[in-house]
Amino acid sequence: MESLAEVRAEALACTRCGLAGGRTQVVFGVGNPGADLLLVGEGPGREEDLRGEPFVGRSGKLLDTLLHQELGIDRTSCYIANVVKCRPPGNRDPRPDEIDACRPYLDAQVRLIAPRVVVTLGNFAARTLLGTTDGIRRLRGAAYPFGTAHLVPTYHPAAALRGGAEVVAEMRADLVRAKALLIGRRSELPAGGGVLAAAARRDEQVPDGTAARGPAGQRR
Ligand code: URA
Repeated sequence: MESLAEVRAEALACTRCGLAGGRTQVVFGVGNPGADLLLVGEGPGREEDLRGEPFVGRSGKLLDTLLHQELGIDRTSCYIANVVKCRPPGNRDPRPDEIDACRPYLDAQVRLIAPRVVVTLGNFAARTLLGTTDGIRRLRGAAYPFGTAHLVPTYHPAAALRGGAEVVAEMRADLVRAKALLIGRRSELPAGGGVLAAAARRDEQVPDGTAARGPAGQRR
């Protein structure tokens, strides 16, 4: 089986779709390849394209803050990736053919990182991984079975920046839901279990009531 480093090397040379022509860098992903938690966004923006790392702009700052405040972790303890690895011009939405072309890289990341919980950020990641056309407002507020993992859809942080306090509060609730799933499965975590597992174990305030409802052709 290929390693994540091999898949990354392949992605860095990718010309499978037209986005390759406009990129400065491929933004493959960042973080701990053995993480319990995988976050999936939409695609790199201008700053990410220049720096080669996901979520380093304003959205990323909010994401870092929420990860710290709700999960007690930073981006080195989880893994952060995007549906498409190259910047769509002018930050337009990724097109279906671009999402399809990039899909093998995302699938390989899910398979090789093998997270316990996947948090999708925004419509594109939730729809791509759950195989649904439902929007994020309808999808969020629950956890979905995703292979042997759970998938927790939440807003894209850019939507939270636009939407204000109410959307940020909902994003926080979604991250708490993700944390509860990690805590709930702590008996299955290996000894130590990484920073996130340790943070989860420390937390006495286990929020309850995480619905596990599931439509959707999750693929792993
Ligand atoms: N928005 C995304 O979806 N991903 C990034 O990496 C940056 C902004």
